Amino acid sequence: MAILKVARMGHPVLRAKARTVEPAEIVSPAFQQLIDDMFETMREYQGIGLAAPQIHESVRLFVAGLRSSKLTGQMSDDDEMPFVALINPVITPLIAPGAAEAELDADWEGCLSIPDIRGMVTRPKAISVKAFNRQGKKIELQASGLPARVIQHEADHLDGVLFFDRMKSFETLTFLDEYSRFWRKNDDDDDDE
Ligand code: NI
Repeated sequence: MAILKVARMGHPVLRAKARTVEPAEIVSPAFQQLIDDMFETMREYQGIGLAAPQIHESVRLFVAGLRSSKLTGQMSDDDEMPFVALINPVITPLIAPGAAEAELDADWEGCLSIPDIRGMVTRPKAISVKAFNRQGKKIELQASGLPARVIQHEADHLDGVLFFDRMKSFETLTFLDEYSRFWRKNDDDDDDE
C-alpha cells in the first residue's frame, strides 16, 4: 500500500482524456495495487472520490466512497456512498417517467486537485452508470443525490473536466475558510472529490 501524490490543477494530466482499460488488465496485480493505493490515498486526504488522473495515471478508473455499506444495484439515499472502484464508466442521466428531461440539482463540490476551494455545481440528480468493477465484471448502478454527484465528478476527471468547468457562474466560488464561515450547513460533509 502506498499514499500517492495528488496532481493539482494546472498539471496537464488533469486535462487529458484518460485511456480505456482493457478488461483483462483489471485483474492484474499491478492494477489491483493501483486501486488499493487510490483508496488509501483517498482516505489519507479525506476525500470521498479520487480519479486515476488525479494521481498521474491517465486511465479510466476512479474510486469513491464514504462508508462500507453493501453495494447494491441501487444507491438511492443521499448520504449512502458505498466504497466502489469503477472502471470505464459510462453515465446516463435518469429521466423520471413523464418528465421531458433529467432533473437537475445544485450543490457544493470540492476537489483534491483544487485544494481549499468550494463551488456550486449543477448536475443531473439521478444517473445510471455502466462500468467494470475491480473483479472485471460488468455492472450497472443507479444512484441519486450525493453518490450520483460524486460519480459524475469523478467520471468528468477521466475526460479532463474539472468542476469549475461545470459551474454556471463563479459567484459561488469560495475559499474553504469562507465556505465554513458563511455557507456550510451544519450537517454537511466537508469532503473533496
Ligand atoms: Ni475532483
